[in-house]
Amino acid sequence: MRNFNEKTITDAVIQRFSSSTDPRIKEVCTSLVKHLHDFVRDIRPSYEEWEYAIDFLTRTGKICDGNRQEFILLSDTLGVSMLVDAVNNPTEGPVTQSTVLGPFFVEDAEEFALGANIAGGMKGLPAYVSGSVSSEDGSPIAGAAIDVWHSDDAGFYDVQQLETLGGNAGRGRFYSDENGKFHFWTIKPTCYPVPTDGPVGEMLTAQGRHPWRPAHLHYMIQAPGHRKLVTHIFDRADQYLDSDAVFGVKDELVRDYVDQSAGVAPDGTKRDAPYCTITYEFVMAKKAARAA
Ligand code: BEZ
Ligand code: FE
Repeated sequence: MRNFNEKTITDAVIQRFSSSTDPRIKEVCTSLVKHLHDFVRDIRPSYEEWEYAIDFLTRTGKICDGNRQEFILLSDTLGVSMLVDAVNNPTEGPVTQSTVLGPFFVEDAEEFALGANIAGGMKGLPAYVSGSVSSEDGSPIAGAAIDVWHSDDAGFYDVQQLETLGGNAGRGRFYSDENGKFHFWTIKPTCYPVPTDGPVGEMLTAQGRHPWRPAHLHYMIQAPGHRKLVTHIFDRADQYLDSDAVFGVKDELVRDYVDQSAGVAPDGTKRDAPYCTITYEFVMAKKAARAA
């Protein structure tokens, strides 16, 4: 086959991998070529624009390293990460909604006893964070692994300032108690911009968008027999809830930080300065129930 034109080339490309023995590869590649070709026919790029696109993707790859993943950021800011999450985690009933993982999760974070303070070198208003983990049938889940991580009051994660902080801060792993409950101390995080010093920043500027994410606490919760829950709890007072740069906000994930005066805290400790409290009741989906 030869002499392809704007109308015939799409079928020709799809035909070329028709003998693939992997049906999923065939399905994915067929759709990819169809959408990609339709996109080109739709926008009709000049050669200069096509070269810019290739250069943009090349630079996106080149800026990636062990700590920086610009392709994930591109996926996040184009809403693809949340779309993949929506496809994989349709939320039913009382199950807590999921949202993006983001680039600042660290595997094997330090484990802490309930009630510990994970602020490390981070400064900010002390926050007493509490909550519970239960199954979708209402029963409490004891021993659920609860990973939490958040930015400081200037919008930076520990991994972005390890040298000044001298180690991990604002992150840790806890296990829910026999009643499925947990609590710990940290500081109240603030909103922050996603990294803008790479191609994604260039794209946001060109699109006339801001790079901000509303303040949030990240959670990853895992318990036997249940689907892993990756989510955030957002600060209701934040100005960016309706314009999150990565489209991650859901109403059910928004909570209040309640200001508290000095005195005896909910865990019985005496506080000599003001602090705040925030709580959330997490509900996990059963694996079997979801598969059925
Ligand atoms: C985050 O919440 O940590 C995050 C998510 C997506 C892009 C950048 C940061
Ligand atoms: Fe975050």
